[in-house]
Amino acid sequence: MGSVTHTSDTSIVPPLVLGIESSCDETAVALVRGDGTIVAQAIASQEAEHAPYGGVVPEIAARAHAERLAPMIARVMGEAGIGLDDIDAIAATAGPGLIGGVMVGLVSGKALAMASDKPLLAVNHLEGHALSPRLADAGLAFPYLLLLVSGGHCQILAVDGVGQYRRLATTIDDALGEAFDKTAKILGLGYPGGPAVERLALQGDPKAVPLPRPLKGSPEPHFSFAGLKSAVLRAVESGSHDPADIAASFQQAAVDCLIDRLDQALERAGPFPALVVAGGVAANRTVRAALEAFAAKHAMRFTAPPLALCTDNAAMIAWAGCERLAAEGWQSGAVFAGDPLDFLARPRWPLDPAAETVRGAGVKA
Ligand code: KG4
Ligand code: ZN
Repeated sequence: MGSVTHTSDTSIVPPLVLGIESSCDETAVALVRGDGTIVAQAIASQEAEHAPYGGVVPEIAARAHAERLAPMIARVMGEAGIGLDDIDAIAATAGPGLIGGVMVGLVSGKALAMASDKPLLAVNHLEGHALSPRLADAGLAFPYLLLLVSGGHCQILAVDGVGQYRRLATTIDDALGEAFDKTAKILGLGYPGGPAVERLALQGDPKAVPLPRPLKGSPEPHFSFAGLKSAVLRAVESGSHDPADIAASFQQAAVDCLIDRLDQALERAGPFPALVVAGGVAANRTVRAALEAFAAKHAMRFTAPPLALCTDNAAMIAWAGCERLAAEGWQSGAVFAGDPLDFLARPRWPLDPAAETVRGAGVKA
């Protein structure tokens, strides 16, 4: 199990929210205050369990969450000296994600809410990523342009306020993190792929291997990475390229696609005072550097959460709960339409339900 870190004081004034995250392969618990203080948190990765299979196995993930979550909640609260009575609300990821794991976290949140008579906030995992930059950067105001790049999603969103999201672009096939993971698999780098590709790319030449930039320049606003992945496979099979050059060239092609699509989103829906990146791929330094340069070019503030807040964590879920409480009010009737205990776990849950349907069988939201 991961380690517990404490970062702050015990003043009770801003609301204190317990966050629970279990939608993919990280079991995570955090206590966050409404002023942005992360009081305590713990994360247990399931990398070792899934590594032999080269990717996340949903049944193994759900079982691992079920085994770890309750002791982790007890440990985080115990070590922080916080009892259920001290908590103002419980925020649990209710989707989108692997349904077995989501159910483990949501049911645990419901049980704690019932036992303590505290409100339950059923949080959209994507909303957690979308608002996490405001946890890291207190000066970040709405609206902002958000690039959400994770293992399951690749979207550009206009974030106008809490609960106000307009999807400007999404992927028509693979998410960017998925493309990193598949590239790692093709290169024999194992799982999880993103950090391994980034490490290998450091030793390669990003111009060495000609790879496509799918949809670059297209009036269709979306992303596509399936063709890039196939081109990586062909480059590997040709046997004529150094793996580090392939990794670096893949990363550069992906970055070029991101910048092109952001340019178009800005042209269509901008200007925005700030550009924000979130999701696991935001941990990638080449991606961050390119986005920072893009933001500077367009005179936009740039915010990227610290690495630990980019990949899945429970602080962002607790923080999304804090944001919703601040924006929507405290009574559970005001926060929820109906009894939160009736809220069902959702494998798919788009942040912008009004967004147009896009072509592509792999589109997840
Ligand atoms: O947000 P996240 O932790 O989980 C999802 O909600 O999907 O994102 C995980 C994804 C994985 O695909 C992983 O390979 C990718 O983020 N990732 C990276 C890096 N670190 C994590 N991709 C590229 N470079 C990295 N350094
Ligand atoms: Zn995520």
